Amino acid sequence: MEIVAFGVQADERPLLEEAFDGHHQVRCLDVFLNRDTAPIAHGYEVVSTNVNADLSAEVLQTLAAGGTKMVAQRSTGFNNIDLEAAADLGLTIGRVSSYSPYAVAEFAWALALAVNRRLVRAAERTRNFDFRLDGLMGRDLHGRTAGVVGTGRIGEAFTRIAHGFGMKLLGWDLAENPECVALGMRYVPRERLFAEADLITLHVPLVDDTRHLVDAAALAAMKDDAILINSSRGGLVDTAALVETLKAGRLTGVGLDVYEEEAGLFFFDRSLDVINDDTLARLMTFANVLVTSHQAYFTEEAVGQIIATTVANVEDHLAGRTSEHMLVTRGQLPAAAR
Ligand SMILES: NC(=O)c1ccc[n+]([C@@H]2O[C@H](COP(=O)([O-])OP(=O)(O)OC[C@H]3O[C@@H](n4cnc5c(N)ncnc54)[C@H](O)[C@@H]3O)[C@@H](O)[C@H]2O)c1
Repeated sequence: MEIVAFGVQADERPLLEEAFDGHHQVRCLDVFLNRDTAPIAHGYEVVSTNVNADLSAEVLQTLAAGGTKMVAQRSTGFNNIDLEAAADLGLTIGRVSSYSPYAVAEFAWALALAVNRRLVRAAERTRNFDFRLDGLMGRDLHGRTAGVVGTGRIGEAFTRIAHGFGMKLLGWDLAENPECVALGMRYVPRERLFAEADLITLHVPLVDDTRHLVDAAALAAMKDDAILINSSRGGLVDTAALVETLKAGRLTGVGLDVYEEEAGLFFFDRSLDVINDDTLARLMTFANVLVTSHQAYFTEEAVGQIIATTVANVEDHLAGRTSEHMLVTRGQLPAAAR
């Protein structure tokens, strides 16, 4: 069978082709799935997509009308998929329910250390043989307080590293993670975490309850010299409110691997285009802000696991099986999602 895969990164392509080799042929496209590109999938029973694909009801209808029966999403988050619409259309939707949490946790730390110690500014300077230290002073993290919002798999991995740095640990989640408690984490109300933490990192999924969890009020509660890291989903942060906070000279550093309006920008070369997103353009002007292009998951280990699970999801679909990675199985939503 031939599968069509949308949004395949150059580094990912050989791994994807190799993983399907001997099972199925895979047609790798660098374009992302959206309203305009959905007709390409006509005639493909299985379509694979990545994190910023548009899997709205309209796009799902186009896929279903073209004969698609399964979408194999190559990510954990599925806030881009209209699951009800997929169920109504009788589709199967697979995703990768877990993979190396270390990839994302280590990247969140890379952002935290880079903004704290002004690494990007330092590297730009030394490349120009400017060896001054003006404006490069950071702070010891040892003894300071890390606030981990969401202590699931990635939050726990982040917490272990924070523990290694000798930080005090505050956590917020719907349920306590005993592994984090064992490391000395104290679970506190979210407002208290925002007010007391020196380093705040977000690891909850994007759902209705968590959208704009970091809003103007949360930002106002943070210490003036706090560091904010978001490597989860852009919609967790009210970016306009963040820009206002930064304009007021507050927050020591901000590291963002995700941005609420990233679809259509992240993963593409827009260097020659006019950027019409004024919020992102303003965000880029702050010297203490570091933005990366949703790359936290992008390690050999994590991508390898994502691809292996995607292959297994396709095989499960073809064999009529379901698994913990299936969000919808032939039109059936799991009971918990109904
Ligand atoms: N930047 C990247 O490349 C990248 C890669 C993978 C995952 N992510 C993001 O990281 C997030 C966390 O991943 P994980 O593997 O640690 O997930 P996880 O399911 O192990 O942990 C999520 C935690 O959030 C908590 N939570 C708090 N409020 C919640 C709510 N209202 N609804 C549901 N859960 C709530 C859960 O209880 C859980 O402990 C993912 O949802 C995804 O958005 C980003």
